[in-house]
Amino acid sequence: MIELRNVTLKYGEKIILDKVSIEVKDNTIKAILGPSGVGKSTILKLMLGLIKPNSGQVFVDGVDITNFKEPDLYPIRRKMGIVFQGNALFDSLTIGQNFSFFLRENLRLPEDEIERRVCEQIKFAGLEGYEDQLPESLSGGMRKRVAIGRALIFNPKMILFDEPTAGLDPVSSRKILNLITDLRNHNGLGAVFVTHIIDDVFAIADRVAVLYKGKFIFDDVTEKLHESDHPFIRSILSDKILEI
Ligand SMILES: Nc1ncnc2c1ncn2[C@@H]1O[C@H](COP(=O)(O)OP(=O)(O)O)[C@@H](O)[C@H]1O
Ligand SMILES: [Mg+2]
Repeated sequence: MIELRNVTLKYGEKIILDKVSIEVKDNTIKAILGPSGVGKSTILKLMLGLIKPNSGQVFVDGVDITNFKEPDLYPIRRKMGIVFQGNALFDSLTIGQNFSFFLRENLRLPEDEIERRVCEQIKFAGLEGYEDQLPESLSGGMRKRVAIGRALIFNPKMILFDEPTAGLDPVSSRKILNLITDLRNHNGLGAVFVTHIIDDVFAIADRVAVLYKGKFIFDDVTEKLHESDHPFIRSILSDKILEI
């Protein structure tokens, strides 16, 4: 479904990604694990076409989107919901308006269809009764659920999460991870999530790619991580802390 092929990405002279390749298949939960500042969020931006690689290609559903310009990227992005690390909710809009905003902006849907879809997602996210509240009045876990529900509004095939459990307490984290698993098991929705928390990877990821110093040093089914003899992976398995 999503593929980076031989992608190099530099910020100025600094090489962040050095000829990396990665594939995310439909209906799979794939984790991208790596320390802070390694380039995880950058990978999600490349997948969405928000930034362009210096070299290499980006494919979505077999289509090379590397050189797509903005309007052509809109339908591509609708195939992928995105949940940003800080949720990127509109603070001055109510929960209901946060859900309806992009529908109204992007699709010419009749008002009752917008209403129907918003209702469906509010229910799914367990936010009934909160439609008229502002994001600031909700807990961190609930705000994350708003961001997830909103990402589902265009019925994507895949959902991208940037550090989905960052800043959440253990119980809320667990709920969000369960939600990601439920979406895959019940709705057939694939997920890519980037994280620096190894326990989240073992909790839900089918496959994991480990990014370290500009390269993927591991990319396979999660269970095989234990078999890796790469020193960095050995150290994260014993310390559970990701530092370069
Ligand atoms: N727009 C930018 N301009 C310059 N440097 C950037 C920019 N965005 C990110 N970086 C740098 O690129 C590196 C990777 O960033 P990022 O993808 O956000 O890492 P991660 O998500 O793994 O923490 C970091 O060193 C960061 O400071
Ligand atoms: Mg990041």
